[in-house]
Amino acid sequence: MPIHYRSDGDVAVLQIEHPPVNALSLEVRRGLIEALARAASDPAIRAAVIIGAGGSFPAGADIREIASGAALTPPILLDVIGRLETFEKPLVAAIEGVALGGGFELALACHARIAAPGARVGLPEVKLGLIPGAGGTQRFTRLAGPQAALEAITSGEHLPAARALALGVLDAIAAEPLAQAIIWARRLADEGAVPRASEREERTAGVDPGLFSAWREAHARKYRGQLAPGRIVDAIEAACTRPREEAFGLERQYFLECRDSPQRKALMHLFHAEREARKIPGVGPDVEPAPIRRAAVLGAGTMGAGIAVCFANAAIPVTLLDATEAALERGLSRIRELYRESVERGRLSAQQAEAALGLIRGATGDAPLGEVDIAIEAVFEDPALKREVFERLDRNTPPHAILASNTSTLDIDRLAAATGRPQQVVGTHFFSPAHVMKLMENVRGTASSPQTLATVMALAKRLGKIPVLAGNCDGFIGNRMLQYYGAEAERLLEEGATPEQVDAVIESFGFAMGPLAMRDLSGNDVGWAIRRNRILPPDERWSPILERMAAEGRLGRKSGQGFYRYEGGRRRHNPEALALIESVSRELGIERRAISDAEILTRLLHPLVNEGAKILAEGIASRPGDIDVVYVHGYGFPAYKGGPMYWAEQDGLEKVIATLERLAPSHGQRWQPAARLLEAARRGGWDAEANAQPA
Ligand code: CAA
Ligand code: NAI
Repeated sequence: MPIHYRSDGDVAVLQIEHPPVNALSLEVRRGLIEALARAASDPAIRAAVIIGAGGSFPAGADIREIASGAALTPPILLDVIGRLETFEKPLVAAIEGVALGGGFELALACHARIAAPGARVGLPEVKLGLIPGAGGTQRFTRLAGPQAALEAITSGEHLPAARALALGVLDAIAAEPLAQAIIWARRLADEGAVPRASEREERTAGVDPGLFSAWREAHARKYRGQLAPGRIVDAIEAACTRPREEAFGLERQYFLECRDSPQRKALMHLFHAEREARKIPGVGPDVEPAPIRRAAVLGAGTMGAGIAVCFANAAIPVTLLDATEAALERGLSRIRELYRESVERGRLSAQQAEAALGLIRGATGDAPLGEVDIAIEAVFEDPALKREVFERLDRNTPPHAILASNTSTLDIDRLAAATGRPQQVVGTHFFSPAHVMKLMENVRGTASSPQTLATVMALAKRLGKIPVLAGNCDGFIGNRMLQYYGAEAERLLEEGATPEQVDAVIESFGFAMGPLAMRDLSGNDVGWAIRRNRILPPDERWSPILERMAAEGRLGRKSGQGFYRYEGGRRRHNPEALALIESVSRELGIERRAISDAEILTRLLHPLVNEGAKILAEGIASRPGDIDVVYVHGYGFPAYKGGPMYWAEQDGLEKVIATLERLAPSHGQRWQPAARLLEAARRGGWDAEANAQPA
């Protein structure tokens, strides 16, 4: 039985025990109804406390149950919460660890909530394309007011206990939440229970309706294309403007609308994919990650500084090394600036920032390498330099240390060969800005040992990153796919599209930025320098547009103009860029034509999917979901569309094939539909099992 019932004198204690996270699956819901009935009917019981075992007051509804799409067997969560709401005796929630989603809704329906100091609570449904559907938006708003509810529920953030207490959604913080909850329950039984959240109106009365229109306007761009965030705003507005019954009913209606939407399905696919991606094919859970107590990062540039911050934020002492004092100081001052900004924006307290900064040391000599468990190099992307750095790391770090590279493209095996410990060499590819971007694309070298892999996957979790393990090839998963996307954007320009049109199509699909705005951001000279080093097959060509842009000094944002002109940071039409593009079309003898948005979208995204299929076939990615996780967390693919592989499968793999068959004659053999794509289309899906076989 997932509910353990016991009595502590006149207080019933209902303990939910349903590992791993006490999700509210059918047995739990049934068990709760039965336990509540028992507590109600026992005259010796005057109050009840609900608690979760193992550090989790339910972490929400059972996501697998919702994802299955089948109708839920009653009692559903709404029935359980209805029973709590009508329970005749005082009810207190004792929260250790997390109370999330439906779990927190359960707590909100109790008379009071007592949490441990380290507990986190919240309504993260939006991250799964849902809105809280069992009164969460209503009760939270009634306790904390609409502004706090808008902030917390549209972001889905986990609120630390102290913050939740300040907002009014917790009643007390106690080192022993269960003992305190029993005391509170008894006191409520003695003094008469306080009103429940649903009965309170002081925070929802007289709210200025302008709050909601202003919120919608301010977040219009962020919510573009998404269903759940807007519905959360509607539900919170209803809590303040409609009669109680009607507002609860509207919340339910919005919940069902979101639950049945493709966005919910895509986001749950991603939730599952992120967790699957942590599992390493061929490496079982018996392989223990090595402890990481101290780290070194070589190269105090853009990436190295950000990576050092990741370690410090995870409370791991780190030494940042660079070749010269000047370069080191540049890195360290960038880090100080990052922490200053974090404090200014309220993301960290001054003490937290100070403590993290205290964990970062700088050095130019090799001595600090002697005490590290891992060294990550982030020096210039130069193969000879990187090999030299690996030799140096091998000489100067303890024999057990892992040596990792942040390279975006280089061969991990060649770096491993420069050391006497290839089994401890691995790629750890962070994304820029490294302290913000969630993806960590770890790269498995031929010799990387199971323990090395387990260690960097576990490290990612400690650093708050989402890891994916890629095989070793040019560009790994993400950048290898990206080459087609970038190249095709320019081919579209040659044929008649404008930068504005190409970017608008991609941005309205849900990416934060289109490919040409992105080029301007990273610098057209940088893009050209990378391209210059790549060798294309003889039947392919690069569009000359990027090279021309770089040669003419149209470098992008940093030079004030590129594909766009920049005025006060805003992008504007650049007639000179268009003239350059049109002259390229003329020189190539291409008659410019009107290109539809649909053609732009498919020509940009379908080649990504085709390369994804090859990456799967070669075992560079273990599962289609791994590719989705890479694209969503590293490249801005809209999460609510599930990632490129999932999106293509939903949209129809035959459409991908048709696009590639159209492009291949003019673009080259590599653009032919891949065998794995043809096979997936025939089978009606990617069939993830065909690739991943975890130990
Ligand atoms: N339902 C089912 N399984 C869940 C789950 C849930 N709500 N939450 C986590 N799990 C599973 C994971 O899939 C994972 O399973 P595997 O080991 O088989 O991969 C396992 O529990 C451990 O999860 P994590 O690896 O994520 O563990 P963690 O320690 O890193 O994080 C957590 C724990 C913070 C609870 C995190 O799992 C989490 O954020 N879970 C989702 C919380 C959530 O979104 N709740 C709202 C659900 S929707 C809802 O509740 C609304 C409604 O009423 C319909
Ligand atoms: P950067 O040019 O900003 O920094 C490189 C740093 O390495 C400089 O501070 C330089 O002084 C230092 N350095 C050079 N030789 C050194 C040596 N022998 N010993 C110690 N330090 C040395 O470069 P950036 O952008 O930080 O890139 C670093 C690595 O990260 C590259 O491999 C790059 O491909 C990769 N990368 C870069 C991303 C980006 O967006 N910039 C994204 C992901 C990976």
